[in-house]
Amino acid sequence: MSPAQRDALVTLLPRYGLAFAAAPLDFEGVFARRAPRVLEIGCGMGETTAAIAQARPDQDYVAIDVHMPGIASLLRRIEAERLSNVRVIAHDAVEVVATMIPPDSLSRIHVFFPDPWPKKRHHKRRLLKPAFVAALAQRLVPGGTLHVATDWEDYANEIVATCAAEPRLVNSAADFSPRPDDRPLTKFEARGLKLGHRVWDVIFVRA
Ligand SMILES: C[S@@+](CC[C@H](N)C(=O)[O-])C[C@H]1O[C@@H](n2cnc3c(N)ncnc32)[C@H](O)[C@@H]1O
Repeated sequence: MSPAQRDALVTLLPRYGLAFAAAPLDFEGVFARRAPRVLEIGCGMGETTAAIAQARPDQDYVAIDVHMPGIASLLRRIEAERLSNVRVIAHDAVEVVATMIPPDSLSRIHVFFPDPWPKKRHHKRRLLKPAFVAALAQRLVPGGTLHVATDWEDYANEIVATCAAEPRLVNSAADFSPRPDDRPLTKFEARGLKLGHRVWDVIFVRA
C-alpha cells in the first residue's frame, strides 16, 4: 500500500467506513434519509462505485471489498468527490450479507467482474454460488435487480443457470442483457474490449 492509501485508511475509514457487525444495518440512520439502496460487492478500486454514486445522488451505496488498497482508493474518491451517499465495508461480503443486510432492503445489487477463478479445480471458490445467490435475492425488494458483469464466458453461463434456478429471481432478458448505459466502462474493461474480449451482463429481477 502506498503512504497515501495508508493515510486514507487511517483518516477516512472512520468517516466513511461501516464496521462489520453481527447485527442488521440501520440504513436510514447511516445515511440520515430514506432512499433506494444499492449494494456493490467487490468494488475493487472503487472507480465504478464512485461514478455511479456521483451520477445518482438520489440513491445510497454500500460498497464491500476485502482488498485494503482498493478500499483506500475508494475512500479517497469519496472524499475528493464529496460523495455523501457512499459507505464502505471492509469485510467478506458473504458474512456482511448474512448478518448486516436485512431482507427486502436493497433496490439493486452490483457484482462487477467477480474473481473468475478460471481453473476448474478452483471453481468452488467462485462467489456466485446457489446459497449466496439465494441470500442476495432475499435481500432485494420485489422488483429489485441483481446485476452481474463478467468477462469469463463459462462463469457468465454458470451465473445465468444459478440465478435461473433461484425461485425468487426472474431473468430480465432471454439470457444476457445488453450492457446498460448506467454501468460505467472501466479502464480495465475498455482495454479488454479493445483486445476483442467480450463482457456479459446478467440482470435478474426479484419477483
Ligand atoms: C476482479 S476484482 C473486480 C473489481 C471491480 N468490481 C472492477 O470491476 O474493477 C474482484 C474484487 O472482488 C473482491 N472480492 C472477492 N471476494 C470477495 C468477498 N468474499 N468479499 C468481498 N470482496 C470480495 C476482490 O477483493 C476484488 O477486489
